[in-house]
Amino acid sequence: MLLLGIETSCDETGCGVVNDRFEVLGDALYTQAETHAKFGGVVPEVAARAHLEKIRAVAESAVERAGIRLEDVDVIAHTRGPGLLGPLLVGSSFAQGLGRALGKPVMGLNHLEGHLASAYLTDPSFEPPFLALLVSGGHTELVHVGPGLEFRVLGATRDDAAGEAFDKSGKLLGLGYPAGAAVSRLAENGRRDFVDLPRALMERGNLEFSFSGLKTAMAREIARRDADALEREKADLCASLEEAIVDALLKKTLWAMRGLDETRLIVAGGVAANARLRARMAELAEREGWKLVLPERRFCGDNGVMMAAAAMKRVQLGKWPAGGGVSAGLRWE
Ligand code: KG4
Ligand code: ZN
Repeated sequence: MLLLGIETSCDETGCGVVNDRFEVLGDALYTQAETHAKFGGVVPEVAARAHLEKIRAVAESAVERAGIRLEDVDVIAHTRGPGLLGPLLVGSSFAQGLGRALGKPVMGLNHLEGHLASAYLTDPSFEPPFLALLVSGGHTELVHVGPGLEFRVLGATRDDAAGEAFDKSGKLLGLGYPAGAAVSRLAENGRRDFVDLPRALMERGNLEFSFSGLKTAMAREIARRDADALEREKADLCASLEEAIVDALLKKTLWAMRGLDETRLIVAGGVAANARLRARMAELAEREGWKLVLPERRFCGDNGVMMAAAAMKRVQLGKWPAGGGVSAGLRWE
């Protein structure tokens, strides 16, 4: 059984091929980050055009790397949403066209379900039920996944996502877009208790997140310093910012795991690539006796392989998703 996954919800054109043992046979990714960097964020129309230009070549190279032909693919999966409508339509139309041409079924999937499925690529024996901490540029959610892929959102962000908190503060520090990885790199050599930044909604058991106060607090810290001081203390500010974000993520994950009496956890999404989050979550899991799966870093950000993996899990469980087409604001089914 061979699955082709296609991801075009934001600014990465990704295609991947996996088999029924969740082995990655072919992986191809075209990232538009540089195109959007000069605008300080993703421009939807520019993204849609870039997807359109690249999608065929990316799909072909994924298949080529897998050493197969397109005709060998059994199911074609694409992202239905949530995401940017124009980019989603490019991936969906391409998948539909391919399906029709090859006479193969096409499956439209939730992008967030794709992020969760990156865990199967690291540990193919890992099965639901589990708790997922999903942290990306657009989402921060604690989701419980039932044995038959029943999704239950336990808590989400009220305002900015965790990735956004990295990106917006990083932008204020002149670190470009997206800034998460750059903040994290600088933070390695910074003092994590340098400035006291807010941790919001910390009443015991509260599973919601709020990160918008961080950006305001960072803006204040930056305004207080002249250019020299800012340059000298950039790493310290990054380290303090990273610690505030990671503290909130860990605390709420701990409360959710205890509340559910759950012992299995995955962390997924672009921010799951963060070294500090990975290290501290691994420590916590060890202390609490949890089974933790951290996806390989290359599968944390948006990619096509994770969509193929999500579709493979659905095929194996006999759970074809309801509904077709695309939707910018698609919710969990
Ligand atoms: O999942 P993703 O690629 O796209 C969305 O679906 O949003 O996540 C992108 C986000 C960006 O906000 C980026 O800054 C953040 O993930 N990110 C990181 C790191 N690598 C990427 N944040 C913190 N530390 C990192 N190492
Ligand atoms: Zn994503």
